Amino acid sequence: MSTRPQVARRLFAPIATNYERWARLLSLGQDGRWRREMVSSMELDEGNLVLDVAAGTGSITRLLEEGGCRVVPLDQSWEMLATLRNTSLLPVMATAERLPFPDGCFDGVTFGYLLRYVNDVTGCMAELVRVLRAGGMAGMVEFGLPSGVWRPPWTVYTSGILPTVGRAIGGGWHEVGRFLRPSIVEFSTRWDPERLADVWREVGLVDVRVRSMSLGGGLVMWGRKT
Ligand SMILES: C[S@@+](CC[C@H](N)C(=O)[O-])C[C@H]1O[C@@H](n2cnc3c(N)ncnc32)[C@H](O)[C@@H]1O
Repeated sequence: MSTRPQVARRLFAPIATNYERWARLLSLGQDGRWRREMVSSMELDEGNLVLDVAAGTGSITRLLEEGGCRVVPLDQSWEMLATLRNTSLLPVMATAERLPFPDGCFDGVTFGYLLRYVNDVTGCMAELVRVLRAGGMAGMVEFGLPSGVWRPPWTVYTSGILPTVGRAIGGGWHEVGRFLRPSIVEFSTRWDPERLADVWREVGLVDVRVRSMSLGGGLVMWGRKT
């Protein structure tokens, strides 16, 4: 059986060259808002050194740089890193579960759409927090699972429209379109936001805040290392 990081490697390699364009369209233009919300909530200072884990093609990296941060983008996929643009520091190819950095060397750590792809969520969170200095900020963007009246339209979109549009785009997007709904449902059921916030506290973060975005379709979290 494939591990989650192996699944992620296979999923992202074929879509690296057009990831940003189609990801924006398939999130109905919402994903940029979620990233901006995370970055502004973290209240980083100009000149701060930030590790952007699961940086992909650099959407979060570039936002951080626009705010004056120096950013090390890190990802396990060389295909995604190969298309990354506008970076202040050299990208690093590594896995989030074993970061090649000493303890406490970053002012901030960001991770967008990472935790669904790791085998050990608590262990990975501990590793992300390990490289943060005391007082440093962690920030996350993830998909959420809408509840109540918003669940049926979300289910129609993610189980019907997303795979169909993915098939029309081709080149790996059909697989992504079929993968996303079960992945989001499984992760959000196992780790509802409050349970995830408890894990953040367990690994040494305080002032943990959770913000549901776009009728529950997006999730932004941030917190500070003690
Ligand atoms: C959906 S993309 C998100 C990219 C970017 N953060 C954004 O907001 O657009 C997810 C990224 O996570 C990376 N990834 C998945 N599992 C990883 C792991 N265990 N370690 C490092 N990167 C990982 C994938 O290679 C992919 O580039």
